This record gives sequence, C-alpha cells and structure tokens, in this order.
Amino acid sequence: MILTINAYGHPTLRKVAQDIDSNYPNLEQLINDMFETMYHSKGVGLAAPQVNHSIRLMVIDTIPFKKEYPEAMDMKMIMINPYIVEETGNEWLYNEGCLSVPNIHEDVLRKSKLKIEYLDENFNEHELEFEGINARVIQHEYDHLEGKLFVDRLTPLKKMLLKRKLTDISKGIVDVDYKMNFPFQSKKKY
Ligand code: NI
Repeated sequence: MILTINAYGHPTLRKVAQDIDSNYPNLEQLINDMFETMYHSKGVGLAAPQVNHSIRLMVIDTIPFKKEYPEAMDMKMIMINPYIVEETGNEWLYNEGCLSVPNIHEDVLRKSKLKIEYLDENFNEHELEFEGINARVIQHEYDHLEGKLFVDRLTPLKKMLLKRKLTDISKGIVDVDYKMNFPFQSKKKY
C-alpha cells in the first residue's frame, strides 16, 4: 500500500523517534509499505516519521545511484533502532532532496564515512561502516529520526531565501505527484 508522506511543517517530522521492539504492530507490513511508497515517489530512502510513525525505522535502496557512484549498495537496507557510532572522513557537498520537502534541492555538507549500529528486520544486531553515497543517504534518513531535515543544515542566508517556498509546501502549494499530508493546507471551499 502506498502511504501518505508528511510534508514540511508536520509535527511528526520534528519529533525524536522512539526505539521499537519486535512486538511493534504490523511491522512487516509497514516495512513493505515504506518500500512501495519510496519506489512510487522515486526516492532512495524513507524514514518512518515521513509516513507518520515516530519510530526508529528507515529503508534505503541506493541502486539508482549505481552507475554514477560505484560504491552504491545493490541491495535493500532496512535499519531498525539505528545509532550512528561515529562520523569520519572529509566533509563533502552533495545536492540533497527529500520526499517531505518536494522540489527543493540544495547542497549539504556532511562527513564522508560513518559507523552505525542497527537491527535488521529480524532484530539481529549489526555494526557496519559506510562511505560515499551510501553514508550520505543513511545520514539524511537518520536525521529524520532525530527530528531534523536537510534544510536545517543550510546557511542562515540559504534558509532565509527558501522560507517562502517551505511555507508554501506546508500549505500544499506545491506541484507533487505522490500523496502528501500538508499540515497547513486550508480547507477547500466549494
Ligand atoms: Ni528526507
């Protein structure tokens, strides 16, 4: 099932997400739905707060980057209760976008490597290192679990220039071809 994606301004996007255990209701279905929603909206990652579950769960598939970035993983990743252990390497700029912030793309500076611990869909523990585009997508999705968005990482000037556009997104004044929940959309008058 394709889920509705929370747009910029939605309070769930600003909460620090909670750890879950294997008793979380309909978890398998939620994971499947998140992948379906991500592919439908042509994303490479999706975090649970974006589909209005304030839990530490994110799905990633960097296959679309394979041609341009050889390090891209050719597998689906499911991360439950992830915690970044350390971020290392040089900072690099990458032009990020976000399904919750449609039609805005900005260069964001982040470190190139990270070590992260997480549980897979069977609740087995892993600690892995990622770099390049894989690290980038993980960092972006991880921010969602911390209540952060990529636009928070821009300079004050850039943020100021985007203010109007972001307000419009929260009101639903944006051209988007997937289902979104706009927190400040005014009721339609007939
Ligand atoms: Ni995002």
